[in-house]
Amino acid sequence: MKRIWIDTDTASDDAVAILMALRWPDEEIIIEGITTVSGNVSLEECTRNALYTIELCGKQVPVYQGAGKPLVREAVFGYFFHGPDGMGGMNYPSPKLEIEENHAVNALIDAIRANPNEFILVTLGPLTNIALALSIAPDLAEKIPMCYVMGGAAATLGNITPAAEFNIYVDPEAAKMVFHSGLPLTMVGWELCRGEANLDDEDIKSVLAMDTVYSKFTVDCNRQAIQTNREWLGEPMLPLPDPITMAIALDSSICTKKGKYYVTVDVESEVTRGMTVVDERGVLEKDANVTVCWAIDVPRWKEALYKTLR
Ligand code: RIB
Ligand code: CA
Repeated sequence: MKRIWIDTDTASDDAVAILMALRWPDEEIIIEGITTVSGNVSLEECTRNALYTIELCGKQVPVYQGAGKPLVREAVFGYFFHGPDGMGGMNYPSPKLEIEENHAVNALIDAIRANPNEFILVTLGPLTNIALALSIAPDLAEKIPMCYVMGGAAATLGNITPAAEFNIYVDPEAAKMVFHSGLPLTMVGWELCRGEANLDDEDIKSVLAMDTVYSKFTVDCNRQAIQTNREWLGEPMLPLPDPITMAIALDSSICTKKGKYYVTVDVESEVTRGMTVVDERGVLEKDANVTVCWAIDVPRWKEALYKTLR
C-alpha cells in the first residue's frame, strides 16, 4: 500500500498521471489529497480538470485549490500546448465533485504533520504550493520521505526555453526554495520525456484498440499536445512527462540510472531563468540535495501506463 499526495497544474498529461494513480493495479494506492496550482492553465481550470478526471474514474479524492500565480512573477500558461481548456478542447462536462474548503497549502501542512513520513509527494506542475507550505512549515522537509518532481532539464535542453523546463520556468523562485529546503527530491527532467519515451503512432493505435473510456480519454485530451509537439518542438508523437513521473513514483525501478548531486535553479537571468543547474562533477563542493533520474526503462514506463488504461 502506498499513500501519495499529488500537486498538479492539471492539463492533459497531468490528467493521465492522476488517472494512473487512481487505477494502479499492482498495489493499493491511496491518494490522500490533490492540490492544484496555476501553471498549464488557470487555477480554476486546472482544478476543474482534476475534479473531472477523478469523476471519470469513479473515485473520491479530496481536492484543494492552491496558488493562483507564481510567488513573485506573472503567471505563464500553456494553453498553446494543451488547448483552450487544457484538455485538448474536449469541453468535457462540468464535474459534479466539488473542492474542499481548506486552502491547498494549509491542507498539505495539516495532512503531512498529522501523518509524518507516511506520504510520498508527487509534483506535476510549478512548485508554488510546495514552496509556500515549506516557508510556513519548514518541518515538512523532514516529514515527507520523497518528493518526485516532474521538472527541470538535467544539464540539457529545456522545452519552454533552451535552458528551462516549463514547471521550473513558471516559478523559478519557488523551485529554488524547494530545491534548497532539505525536502528529499527525485527530479524527473523533461529530457526523459521525449523521443522514444513518447507514444508513437503505433503506441497510440494500441491504446485506442483497448477501447476503454480511459484509453479514449488519454488520447482525446492530448490531441492538441500531439499536434503542438510536432509543430512547435518538431517532435512527433505524444509526450507524457507527468505520467512518466507518476510511473516512477509508483514503481521507482522504472528509473534505471540516478545519482545525487548539488542542483540549484537560476532566478537571476532572463536567458537562463528556471535552468536546473546540476553539478554532476561535484566541482562546487556543495552538499548534494537532489536525486536526478538520468534514464528510464521505456518499455516498462509504457506498460505502467497501459495497465491503468485497460
Ligand atoms: O514541461 C512539462 C510539464 O509542464 C508537465 O508537467 C506539463 O503538464 C506542464 O505542466
Ligand atoms: Ca503538469
